[in-house]
Amino acid sequence: MADLFTLRAAVEADRPYLDAYCWNEGMDNLPSLERVTVAANADDEPVGFIRIALGANGAAHVNPVVTHASWRGYGVGRALMEAAAAEHGELRLVARGASVPFYDALGFEECDWGLIDTSVTENCEGCELVDECNPKPMRRG
Ligand SMILES: CC(C)(COP(=O)(O)OP(=O)(O)OC[C@H]1O[C@@H](n2cnc3c(N)ncnc32)[C@H](O)[C@@H]1OP(=O)(O)O)[C@@H](O)C(=O)NCCC(=O)NCCS
Repeated sequence: MADLFTLRAAVEADRPYLDAYCWNEGMDNLPSLERVTVAANADDEPVGFIRIALGANGAAHVNPVVTHASWRGYGVGRALMEAAAAEHGELRLVARGASVPFYDALGFEECDWGLIDTSVTENCEGCELVDECNPKPMRRG
C-alpha cells in the first residue's frame, strides 16, 4: 500500500495551508519557509508541518509542529519529529500542556526553561492564555 503521506520541504504554494493551520491553532504565521518541512497527502497538499528554529544557543527548537485535525493519529506528527531529529539531533521545544502526551510518547522529557532559546519563550511571555495553556519546556537529546 502506498504511504498515506510523504515529507518534503515547504514551498510557496503551501503558504495558504500553513497560514490556515497556524490560524486554527492560534499561532502566528510562519516568519519564513526556512527549515519548514511538510507532510503531503497523495494530492501533494500539506496535512501537517514542522518548523525548526535554530536558537542563538545553536540548539534546534521545534516551533511549531502541527497536524491538521482530520489527520491526527496517523503518525504525521511522529514522522515530522523523527525526520527533524535525524537531521538536527537534539530537539528542544515549549510544549502546550495539551500536547505534552504527544511529546511523552516520543520520549521527550521536561527540562529547564534556561535551555530554551528566548526567540521561542518570547511567544509565552505576556500571553494572556499562559495559565490555560500550561506550557512546559521539553527536550530529547
Ligand atoms: C500534537 C500533534 C502535532 C500530534 O500530531 P499527530 O499527527 O496526531 O501525532 P501522531 O499520530 O504522530 O502521534 C504520535 C504518538 O503520539 C501519541 N499522541 C498524539 N497525541 C496524543 C494525545 N493527545 N494524547 C496521548 N497520546 C498522543 C500517539 O498516540 C502516538 O503514539 P504511538 O506512535 O506510540 O501510537 C497534533 O495533535 C496537533 O497538531 N496539535 C495541535 C497543535 C499543537 O499543539 N502542536 C504542538 C505545540 S508546538
